[in-house]
Amino acid sequence: MEKKRILTGDRPTGRLHIGHYFGSLKKRVEMQDSGNYDMYILIADVQALTDNFNNPEKVRKNVRELAMDYLSCGINPEKTTIYIQSMIPETAELTIYYSNLVTISRLERNPTVKTEIAQKKELFGESVTYGFLGYPVSQAADITTFEGELVPAGEDQEPLIEQAREIVRKFNNIYGEVLVEPKIVLSTGKRIKGLDGNEKMGKSLGNAIYLADSEEVITKKVMSAVTDPNRIKKDDLGNPDICMVAYYHKLFSTDEEIETVCKECRAGQRGCVACKKQLAKNIIEYLRPIRERRAYYEQHPEIVDKILREGTEKARKTAKETMKKVKQAMKLDYFE
Ligand code: TRP
Ligand code: SF4
Repeated sequence: MEKKRILTGDRPTGRLHIGHYFGSLKKRVEMQDSGNYDMYILIADVQALTDNFNNPEKVRKNVRELAMDYLSCGINPEKTTIYIQSMIPETAELTIYYSNLVTISRLERNPTVKTEIAQKKELFGESVTYGFLGYPVSQAADITTFEGELVPAGEDQEPLIEQAREIVRKFNNIYGEVLVEPKIVLSTGKRIKGLDGNEKMGKSLGNAIYLADSEEVITKKVMSAVTDPNRIKKDDLGNPDICMVAYYHKLFSTDEEIETVCKECRAGQRGCVACKKQLAKNIIEYLRPIRERRAYYEQHPEIVDKILREGTEKARKTAKETMKKVKQAMKLDYFE
């Protein structure tokens, strides 16, 4: 049986944190290791430029950071193809053809695009760029260039996949059944709150632990986590349900430890400082293999480059095959 093709990826705009890990990376690694899929992961630098066109250095730097984050989490280049989006001109070509199959008003109604435009007032002012408004078209091209059947992604990506499906249906209707209609595989992963209790985790909020964080940084961040505000002295009775340290213990500590933490906290037999130290230690241990692999790749940038080059070369071959079919269907195969 042919393996189902998976296409997924991220914008290279920053390092990945544990929210990304539990939200999507862990699942990707599991899907990879199941051996049931043929997975492509794109580093979406073209898409990153749609809202960072004025900051090419940032995008460039984060291409390698993202690759190292993938590799350190267990994405294995022997099994999974990691490639750089801008090095696949076929995707850009397809984007142009697809742009005839989608209306401006449909793009303006896309909920993900709408939300993002609202968040990016500072960059776009009152008028959004053609490139940003159109990035769902380019994302449809990302997926279909590789005949991606499954797209593991978060809920926020749902409107983008729906948009891709519409484009595929329209293309197939007009030019013939050539393209594969992708399906989203929603991450079952848990959404993790920040150390401050915020629903979202992120750099600007300063409430995230990054996969590349050192032991010292992890400890420092954990020590600043928000605890039950009613506890001042150690023997004050605490409520772990409103404490971020307890919340994180549930992610990184053993069942036995979690039980003890909650019991002792409620009974006023536990100091918050000791509780945090124990958590920091567990997070450090949990992330150790990831951190060590990352350190290895940081010391061997030539290996990271080789992986990206080879992944991109392989991806390019696949892309050319799709492009040939598309051009035939669109009557653009002039000299063949
Ligand atoms: N939109 C995704 C993000 O914001 C990145 C992305 C680009 C992507 N092309 C894709 C994801 C194709 C899945 C499939 O991170
Ligand atoms: Fe939170 Fe632990 Fe302090 Fe209880 S003892 S409030 S669980 S840090």
